[in-house]
Amino acid sequence: MKKNIAIVIIAISITSFTGCYYDKEVVAPPGSATCDTTQMSYTGDIVNIFNNNGCFGCHTGPSGNGGVNLNNHSGAGTVANDGRLLQAITWTGPQRTHMPQGGPKLTACEIGKIRAWVKEGAKNN
Ligand code: HEC
Repeated sequence: MKKNIAIVIIAISITSFTGCYYDKEVVAPPGSATCDTTQMSYTGDIVNIFNNNGCFGCHTGPSGNGGVNLNNHSGAGTVANDGRLLQAITWTGPQRTHMPQGGPKLTACEIGKIRAWVKEGAKNN
């Protein structure tokens, strides 16, 4: 009997922790306590988002897909400043430009971070 109670308690703890994890990762809106969009850094924030979402697999080097090279600041800055980066990650352009192509949309928090970086001038910081 004691054993069963212990199992129930463990099960409840696991489900509650999982709940918190998803709240943080997916639901946190940009600018909330769990999604800090202040002072975005190209090397500290933006490169990680590109990396975590597989962007480099298709956008590395001068022959990157669509002629887009995200693997250095000059390439990333080009699409940041001409508006194509935000259009691509917010899925507001034609279907073929929805990024990451064939993958799930970035989280609201990740989009918020990239938006903040672009707004601050897409600095090489
Ligand atoms: C599976 C390969 C693949 C992945 C992964 C991928 N892209 Fe792309 N990307 C493409 C292709 C192909 C195009 C060219 C689309 C076209 O113009 O037909 C493109 C185009 C783009 C463009 C230009 C869109 C335009 O309007 O011209 C941007 C910006 C872009 N990708 C950003 C990203 C970002 C940011 C990520 C990661 C979140 C990403 N891509 C992941 C294949 C990919």
